[in-house]
Amino acid sequence: MTIWSNVIGTGGYLPETIRTNDDISTMVDTSDSWIYERTGIKSRRIAGPRETASSMAEIAAREAIDMAGIDVQAIDLIIVATGTPDRVYPSTACLLQQRLGIQQCVGFDVQAACSGSIFALSIADQYIRTGFSKNVLVVGSEVCSRIVDWTDRSTCILFGDGAGAVLLSASDQPGILSTHIHSDGGYEDLLYCPNPQVASFDKQDELGYISMRGNEVFKVAVNTLGRIVDETLEASGLHKSDIDWLVPHQANTRIIAATAKKLGMSMDQVILTLETQGNTSSASILLAFNEGVRDGRIKKGQMVLMEAFGAGFTWGSALIKY
Ligand code: COA
Repeated sequence: MTIWSNVIGTGGYLPETIRTNDDISTMVDTSDSWIYERTGIKSRRIAGPRETASSMAEIAAREAIDMAGIDVQAIDLIIVATGTPDRVYPSTACLLQQRLGIQQCVGFDVQAACSGSIFALSIADQYIRTGFSKNVLVVGSEVCSRIVDWTDRSTCILFGDGAGAVLLSASDQPGILSTHIHSDGGYEDLLYCPNPQVASFDKQDELGYISMRGNEVFKVAVNTLGRIVDETLEASGLHKSDIDWLVPHQANTRIIAATAKKLGMSMDQVILTLETQGNTSSASILLAFNEGVRDGRIKKGQMVLMEAFGAGFTWGSALIKY
């Protein structure tokens, strides 16, 4: 019998504080119109001083668990995607396990930058398909605001904080149809975030902030996401018209529009959160998915294509029958 991973719950959390483009215009030389026209972002959420990846993950996870209606002790695997963990170790997944009070399960983090949630979904799906796990909690949680240089106008306009979660469960009915993940380590210089505390001696004077050559990242992202769409459709034997919803990583509306065009989809079939959330890295897809499910746009039985691109470079997709 084929075992599938079914989505049985979704959740999300956004911090209370809203930072608008106008707020940022008082910090660096930029404007609301420049930011909105180039990115599609109007505002983003900023974590409070006591909030962390694990605290936000807990709120998103509890929402997903509530929707699923399962006993928290039935969760046997937790995978957290994050590039902004509370601690180098323990992993954010272990901290989340502690917060949720789960006595017996496996927990670990995945670091694939903005593609983190797709990588985490892919790993979760493998563990369910092989029968190793029955109920897997996948979370993407990020406090990007703490690794952004708020004096660098080319990056600080883009990022936001938040957490998204899904609970996957083993089933004999189709759920995740396929996942596709890739990385190419040849692009370190285009997008990276140093960790000066543990870097080699000659890199210790770097600051721990995101560094990006945005224009070059943009071009590679558009081309790569076009290819991942082809790969996903080919592997599943589906046609473009079979996809009901595109749930993309939220980095830039123009990148998302290019992918939607490639799929022959109108922007009405895209779950967009970018305008009010910015780029929340590994949290963005799960936050958007949660929004689409909870507001009733994504319905049971519909076909959802998720795709992401991030530092590394890493990229990937997940095709899900919801
Ligand atoms: N406000 C005003 N001007 C700005 C600015 C800002 N916030 N940021 C950069 N500029 C200026 C630059 O200094 C440059 O000025 P110059 O021509 O005088 O040198 C000009 O705008 C163009 O800069 P450029 O970087 O070429 O702009 P762009 O059209 O590529 O837009 C991004 C910049 C970052 C919005 C865009 O490249 C992007 O979104 N890239 C993808 C980033 C991404 O998705 N990263 C995450 C991947 S997961």
